[in-house]
Amino acid sequence: MNYLDLARNRHSVRKFKDLEIEEDKKNKIKEKVKSLNEKGGLNFQVFFDEPKCFKSKIFTYGSFKNANNYISLVGEKSSDLDEKIGYFGQDLLLFLEDLGLNTCWVGLTHGKSMAKIKKSEKEICLIAFAYGNENGNIHKSKDDHILSNINEFDNEKNRIILEFCKLAPTALNQQKFYIEFKEDGSYNLTRKMGPYSKVDFGIIKYHLDLAEKYWGEKNER
Ligand SMILES: Cc1cc2nc3c(=O)[nH]c(=O)nc-3n(C[C@H](O)[C@H](O)[C@H](O)COP(=O)(O)O)c2cc1C
Repeated sequence: MNYLDLARNRHSVRKFKDLEIEEDKKNKIKEKVKSLNEKGGLNFQVFFDEPKCFKSKIFTYGSFKNANNYISLVGEKSSDLDEKIGYFGQDLLLFLEDLGLNTCWVGLTHGKSMAKIKKSEKEICLIAFAYGNENGNIHKSKDDHILSNINEFDNEKNRIILEFCKLAPTALNQQKFYIEFKEDGSYNLTRKMGPYSKVDFGIIKYHLDLAEKYWGEKNER
């Protein structure tokens, strides 16, 4: 699937089928986690068939069903950890989507994970994943003029870039970012304040990289 279709087809799913993930997919996921940990100096930890973490029924928003697989997104404490987790976490999440699984970022509405976390480290979020009961729904988006300075005469590339940013999942769907397109073809992404907006910022930066790759490949053809 091309990057744009992958981003367009991804929606948060919280209700999953009571179905184990096949062994070959589990191995691919373990390999991907290992390679991202090496690349990013992170300590992501994957758990399969572990039903306890998402068992709690106390949450009215963000309650899960059959969420028996998750990745704990852990890294060394630092000022840029949240953003880094967002960037590498979204890489992993879209990898899971590409394997035909459904996913959801979870910052708050989960119980205690099984992750081993050193004193120098922090668990920022989890990603829940499995085969979904449904495919989720497209999220509402703020208007283009709230999220950017795009205008009706802008070129196709800028429109693609803005679409990739708008498709990114953000905590509480808050979309706390602004993208300024400049006359020389460059652009500048800024973050606004909000809960988990640093993680969101990393996620959006990953989507920006995908937008550039998508645009490059489209124009090679
Ligand atoms: C950093 C982050 C934290 C999130 N935390 C939760 C959570 O605790 N519980 C939950 O049900 N959804 C959580 N979400 C999922 C968002 O609610 C969801 O991504 C957003 O509403 C947009 O919908 P979409 O993912 O379907 O596009 C989180 C998303 C992000 C990016």
